Amino acid sequence: MCGIVGVISKDKIIKKNVLLDLLKRLEYRGYDSAGIGFMSLGKLRVIKQKGSIDKLRSIVKNDCLGVTCIAHTRWATHGKPNLHNAHPFLSESKTWAIVHNGIIENYLDLKKELGNIKFSSSTDSEVIAQLLEKDSDKKDINKLIRVCNKLKGSFALLCMSVTNPNSLFIAKRKSPIYVMKGKDGIIVASDTICFEGFGKSYYSLEDDEFCEVGLEKIEFYNKKGKKIKKEEQKLESLNYSSSKNGFEHFMLKEIMEEGLVVSNIIKKYSSEPFLSFNECVVRKIKKVVLIGCGSAYHAGLIGARFFEKNTLIDARCYIASEFRYLNNKIDKDTLYIFISQSGETADTLASLELVKNSGGLCVGVTNVMHSTLAKMVDIVLDVCAGVEVAVASTKAYIAQVVVLYMLSKHIEGILKSKSINFLKDVEELRLTLQKNEINNVDKVASLISKKQSVIFIGRDLDYYSSLEASLKLKEVSYISSFACPSGELKHGYLAQVDNTTCVVVIATKIDLLDKNLNNASEVDARDGKIIICSPFKIEDKYTQIKVENITSDLICCLVARKLQYLAYQTSIIKGINPDKPRNLAKSVTVE
Ligand code: F6R
Repeated sequence: MCGIVGVISKDKIIKKNVLLDLLKRLEYRGYDSAGIGFMSLGKLRVIKQKGSIDKLRSIVKNDCLGVTCIAHTRWATHGKPNLHNAHPFLSESKTWAIVHNGIIENYLDLKKELGNIKFSSSTDSEVIAQLLEKDSDKKDINKLIRVCNKLKGSFALLCMSVTNPNSLFIAKRKSPIYVMKGKDGIIVASDTICFEGFGKSYYSLEDDEFCEVGLEKIEFYNKKGKKIKKEEQKLESLNYSSSKNGFEHFMLKEIMEEGLVVSNIIKKYSSEPFLSFNECVVRKIKKVVLIGCGSAYHAGLIGARFFEKNTLIDARCYIASEFRYLNNKIDKDTLYIFISQSGETADTLASLELVKNSGGLCVGVTNVMHSTLAKMVDIVLDVCAGVEVAVASTKAYIAQVVVLYMLSKHIEGILKSKSINFLKDVEELRLTLQKNEINNVDKVASLISKKQSVIFIGRDLDYYSSLEASLKLKEVSYISSFACPSGELKHGYLAQVDNTTCVVVIATKIDLLDKNLNNASEVDARDGKIIICSPFKIEDKYTQIKVENITSDLICCLVARKLQYLAYQTSIIKGINPDKPRNLAKSVTVE
């Protein structure tokens, strides 16, 4: 949610493409507006544009950037996504320029304290620039520390001061920020994805740490203004590539990579099985609680069902933004599993903090091994999905489901004192995914794109698959869509059904097929269009999305893949860029 980058270059001029290509790597964090800040003829200047980084690129001249630059790509929280609210912000007398990721909760109080200053935006962020300008300390880094001590909320901050044109000033609380000293200069960024190709190690700031960095110095401070020492961390290659490998969109590329992801999971977990979950740990577990947001929450719902079915341990999945305010008792004999592709989702991290502070056993299921979540949990499980660029999650969701399946099976094996070859199930899934069959989905997409609303229904795991399918469709096609357990259709949902509605019935269990088909008839009787997503042969009067049949519950991943592709194809038909749908950010670092 908002991405920030800073560069200090050994060259006299930072080429605009270097800066904007780095910023582009963060576009998954938002694309409402973009802007850059730099020194020119002794003055701080900013160039901003509503919309994407490519739009900004078209108005930035190559030779206008200085030795030190900051840049920002925005996902709007406070203030409309317009030019006024685009970052960077300059202070009133243009002595400071800042970019910010996070939310300043007390910005209205701070604005009042500042008195008669003219603000140019309706954001919470601008107040930081004004506070920096008004601070009386002689040293810029002290000003930043003093200002940040007044802020409530979350921030990754990158600032430039007119008095120190060759330095960048950095602060962090709750939103991530990293610094790399590479051979060609300094890069500061919200994600280490910006460092690939520029160096081998980097610094990671912790909460309430500060940094002043120039070509010749890099100094870290704590919130009391005392210098602190920090160790560099090795940059693990994320195999980031800005190439779509011949695919038209990242979303499609990532859907097509799902077989490879499952293959990576098999490689990883056959050589490093779940060693931390030994007999002693497993036998103490009385309950499993899974926590996540969005697609990760849906993976958690499926995971909870795997735990219940396979281990017979009580399992429940919560939405992180709910869990953190429920005041639930944290039990020492409960296994808490936090699921997050990015490992930076604010509500998931807040729930994790809460459980951790009460001594619960915390497991992280994540795609980013250097993320805040990965660092905070007791046990971290890598989902091995590789960088996911498209904003809507596809391959990472499948990977989360697979890892949760394997963990539930591993625990089942220990509890039943028998060896369970769950990798065989995962291998069957991999083989099927790698056949890459996405049959007759295009026809269905064309049909769906003309409908006003789509209802996904299913029973048991198929209901959870419905939730994810519905989320994916609304995210990238903007069609109004929701999910409902098949049996609930009669309890109100049918009121929504007419000839503008499409109902997608997910039916992967043969014993529940007839029940699901009865529900389909109820829709048919009310002129709703029916699509059946199933591995079984269904009467010809219904359009079918055929799913390959496999023996395990991992068939839900095959359903997910077909319906991800359906969402993708529907967005293409509707002329929407599925990689950058409106109002969506991949990394939700604010509450
Ligand atoms: C859906 C999507 C979001 C994320 C959610 C959680 O396509 O991408 O719903 O699943 O924001 O993000 P992570 O998994 O990074 O915590």
